Amino acid sequence: MIPSADALLTVDPAVYKTGFNTTPFNFTHYLHQLPMFQPEALTALAKKYGEIPADYYVSNSAPTPGTRFFDVKAKASKPDEALAQLATAPTRVLLKRPENYDAGFRELLNKLFEKVAELRGGLNGEKVVRLESAVFVSSASSTTPFHFDPEINHFFQIEGGKQYHVYPPCAVREDELEDFYLEGKVEIGQVDLATRDTRLEHVFELVPGSGFHQPQDAPHWVQTGTERSVSYAFVYETDASRARGRVLAANHYLRKIGVNPQPPGANPGTDSAKSSVMKVVVPVRRRIVRNLSRAG
Ligand SMILES: [Fe+2]
Repeated sequence: MIPSADALLTVDPAVYKTGFNTTPFNFTHYLHQLPMFQPEALTALAKKYGEIPADYYVSNSAPTPGTRFFDVKAKASKPDEALAQLATAPTRVLLKRPENYDAGFRELLNKLFEKVAELRGGLNGEKVVRLESAVFVSSASSTTPFHFDPEINHFFQIEGGKQYHVYPPCAVREDELEDFYLEGKVEIGQVDLATRDTRLEHVFELVPGSGFHQPQDAPHWVQTGTERSVSYAFVYETDASRARGRVLAANHYLRKIGVNPQPPGANPGTDSAKSSVMKVVVPVRRRIVRNLSRAG
């Protein structure tokens, strides 16, 4: 039985409302005490992933925080094999959507989502188009390189320590966001660390029982401490957060023809027109790129 949402997550409601989706802020939680996150339960969970490669990702540690995300090699090991080897080879294991494998994770995700939706003041008519969680298990002293994700994130440290370096979304330039959303991708925005304004950086020293909120498009890099680290996160997107991506993609084209476009949010009427056009353009462009890459 999972405790009530109020017992699971403690955060100052005023801090939540002010910072939501613009500024990273920390909170405390109870997840590390739940039986489902103890080592034997995690080993049993990892075993369930064996034949479904789309639902897990096993990779090496990055040599530096500034390494390009996809330059870090994926590993062929299955999640349960990788967990058994964590102490001998620097490894990161990502178990995607555990709520599809275990009813306890489904219940946890639903309770946490209900709580954060209430904290932001309700969804105000926005529809959730994706809601999912993930479990991350990493070796000691391993690095996840700098990137951003197009989703609203709540991150919970369960076991071991993690130093989480995160910038607010305003640290990513409009043109970088436009290039990313033009691709119509749903994961991993690549930006370089060296040109960020370090004054914007937040550093969270996460320990079991602490966590934080990471806004959509907030770039980050992560370093584990001196022992194995386990973290849990859940992310979501709404129709409004997806539409914002389409406005950014439209702005890419406007910039190309010499127009200096308004950022998303500046004019709701223009946003809605741009979003409707790109609903057609982005999938077509993806299809063209796919066909060209097959052809050549
Ligand atoms: Fe990330």
